[in-house]
Amino acid sequence: MKLEEFIPAFAQPVATFDLGFDSAFNTDLVSFIDSLRLGTDGGPVRTSVGGWRNEGDFFAIQNPLIKRLETECAKAAMQFLEACGATIALEKHAISLNGWANWNGKGHYNAPHRHLGADVCGTYYVKQPNDASLNTGCIEFLDNRNIMPAQQRLGGPIFGTRVRRRPEAGKLVVFPSFLTHWVPPNQTEDGRIVVAWNAKLRQKL
Ligand SMILES: [Fe+2]
Repeated sequence: MKLEEFIPAFAQPVATFDLGFDSAFNTDLVSFIDSLRLGTDGGPVRTSVGGWRNEGDFFAIQNPLIKRLETECAKAAMQFLEACGATIALEKHAISLNGWANWNGKGHYNAPHRHLGADVCGTYYVKQPNDASLNTGCIEFLDNRNIMPAQQRLGGPIFGTRVRRRPEAGKLVVFPSFLTHWVPPNQTEDGRIVVAWNAKLRQKL
């Protein structure tokens, strides 16, 4: 007997990329986002409970650091779609990103949500709090399917119903827009900074 085919049908993949930036890149990005945060009121609150996010599209800001980040995130989004086995002609499409910088201080969190309307989403970790206890700095993905508890006991990526990660600064997490996720409260005095984005595939002209 041999296994002939195994299809993880209707999968909900979560990928982590190392963007390969040196530590100076993140240090400079922290300074830039902090200066933006301390100089502006920030944009509208969406899923964030507390915290700050920049007004408008972060990737529209003219800055070489941000341009480098946008370029790498767009490449990762395309690679993610390839890994997903997307059958659309990827070579005839380009990725367009819309992003926002997000700062979470003590007690701040993001309620469970999805990014409907986007194709692929990502979160780049600029700065993580030093203390990893009590789930601070984690992102947790929640299952959208209705798996009965009796089958959840089987565990693993197919039968399990939640996946939790604590990406290091410099890592990018990419996932499909339909995947529910949330960010547990920051229980430290140390800020958490990410750049989150939505990606859409656009046909090349
Ligand atoms: Fe999100």
